[in-house]
Amino acid sequence: MLNSKRAQFTLPPQVSYLNCAYMSPLLKSVEKVGVKALRKKRNPVSISQQDFFTDTELLRKEYARLIHATNLKQIVIIPSVSYGMANVVRNMDIKKGQHIIVATEQFPSNYYPWKSLCDEAGAEIKAIAPPEDFDERGKRWNQRILEAIDSNTKAVAIGNVHWADGTRFDLEAIRKRTQDVGALLIVDGTQSVGALPFDVQKIKPDALVCAGYKWLLGPYSIGLAYYGEYFNNGKPIEENWITRLNSEDFAGLVNYKNAYHEGALRYEVGERSNFILVPMLLKAIQQLNNWGPERIQEYCREIGKNTIEKLMDMGFLIEKEEWRGSHLFGIRLPASTDLEKIKQSLFKHNVYLSFRGNAIRVAPNVYNTEKDFQKLFKALTKFY
Ligand SMILES: Cc1ncc(COP(=O)(O)O)c(C=O)c1O
Repeated sequence: MLNSKRAQFTLPPQVSYLNCAYMSPLLKSVEKVGVKALRKKRNPVSISQQDFFTDTELLRKEYARLIHATNLKQIVIIPSVSYGMANVVRNMDIKKGQHIIVATEQFPSNYYPWKSLCDEAGAEIKAIAPPEDFDERGKRWNQRILEAIDSNTKAVAIGNVHWADGTRFDLEAIRKRTQDVGALLIVDGTQSVGALPFDVQKIKPDALVCAGYKWLLGPYSIGLAYYGEYFNNGKPIEENWITRLNSEDFAGLVNYKNAYHEGALRYEVGERSNFILVPMLLKAIQQLNNWGPERIQEYCREIGKNTIEKLMDMGFLIEKEEWRGSHLFGIRLPASTDLEKIKQSLFKHNVYLSFRGNAIRVAPNVYNTEKDFQKLFKALTKFY
């Protein structure tokens, strides 16, 4: 098992940061690369034409390793999830009578693009809700999603875990069902990829879109999207010079080309060579590959398990391990507890996490230890 990686970050010692689902702290190694990259522009001579292509290719390679992709040309650099989803939606046609399936209270960047698409076409967006009661909630929520998929389903757009409480969605089962009816599977990997294993060869998503600043441990405003072959001949939301064939030939750029680079590269954002953010995200993903998402998931499970068990015994509601992430899960308070008091208590104990929907969202990572969970337990049970 991994041991604590706290020393590789600069979090203040008194802080119990259980909020990676909000934003990861910066690895020292990533910070170092970022500062070096920032300084490079002091003298533009140090940024060569080749530099527009080298780190981006390395980033694709490293990310491909993380998600088990075999073709680098299907991986593109994006600035945000909304951007990655806009490219998906731009290349879908949907008619009245058809629908898109999402999970209830899904993150807005994976809702609004679909809402807009459906509204324009007079199609429907179906948000599948979990059962009201907590009994087998994750399992039954998954069943409801599978049951909602039919021959009028154009796509299922969903996360691997729900962003607000970590409920796990069985993407393999959803993929199978979508294939049966000819629907696309579009995954927002922002709250899972990096900390939870993801295998594009197994899941075969039509798109996997992921922001870089959470579980990928990268900086803000850069992310990665994997687009399946369905999108290879599509139309990007913007037209920029670097996505066109032969863009490596700077002298010939105004010999305008109709053709794009191979695969899905046409979907890359303008100025995707970002000389600061790209090397930072590259460094972060190299580190993740070195640790391995399986081991990160296992580490989070181990440091949290005692506290989770004790809280469940006391009546706090937490999803069964099988249907939640170990890196991201929700705690629902017993009816008698006062949320405002709990918030103050967490603050006093320097425990940082988020409140999303009706759940307290706990999101540990390799810089946490069991001690952070013990502090969480103390803060949560003080007014019990
Ligand atoms: C599931 C999920 N997707 C996407 C995002 C970020 O979206 P965007 O990159 O469009 O700002 C978040 C941020 O919290 C998220 O939780």
